[in-house]
Amino acid sequence: MPHRFPNLCLVRHPLIAHKLSFIRDRHTNTRDFRRLLSEIAALMTYEVFREFATTSCEVETPLERTQAERIAAPITIVPVLRAGLGMTRGVLDLVPEARVGHIGIRRDESTAMPIGYYTKLPSDVSRGPVILVDPMLATGGSSSHALSILRGAGCSDLRLICLVASPEGVGRLLADHPTVRIYAAALDRELDSNKYIRPGLGDAGDRTYGTA
Ligand code: PRP
Ligand code: URA
Repeated sequence: MPHRFPNLCLVRHPLIAHKLSFIRDRHTNTRDFRRLLSEIAALMTYEVFREFATTSCEVETPLERTQAERIAAPITIVPVLRAGLGMTRGVLDLVPEARVGHIGIRRDESTAMPIGYYTKLPSDVSRGPVILVDPMLATGGSSSHALSILRGAGCSDLRLICLVASPEGVGRLLADHPTVRIYAAALDRELDSNKYIRPGLGDAGDRTYGTA
């Protein structure tokens, strides 16, 4: 279905839709939830990298020298703790050479405002593209906060991979960080009165770590 957001790329693929149906299912257990989160992240990474620049290089095959292409700049993945950690393995399966930064943010349970509690980034993080990963884009407060931290560290080439986005969250990022492209597997209907995404998949951190 077409949507109104210029900053949103909905990644549509039968395998992603298939796995999303299981990760949304309340009967999916922690072990399978974790596996699915990682698998969907890997499939989405494949799509995200379609746009990345390559530089040509020479390699020597067992038979002769030839031209080849490699991704140009150092890539940094930044999961938002906790739930973003569950996507990291899937991204690294496809880009094992990537560096991994961490940003810890939790939502205040009564106000849904983001509270940052940890940041650790490569010192030269701004040298290349940065991919922020967090399965849920609800109010957009957490992702916006994380993107502001990355901008403060000098990063300009920023993307976000999430599984489920709300219209409110995508709109918030369009206002706060209009140049950041969001890759999502689904754009859901709305936020409820507790600022949870509907239909959504529940609390991604709790489902990933079995802490519900
Ligand atoms: C969840 C999720 C996002 C955030 C999204 O994290 O992983 O980081 O909420 O909500 P927002 O768009 O309204 O900010 P949570 O705060 O539950 O922390 P946790 O992953 O440590 O449980
Ligand atoms: N955080 C989650 O994990 N799920 C939501 O629906 C909203 C915020």
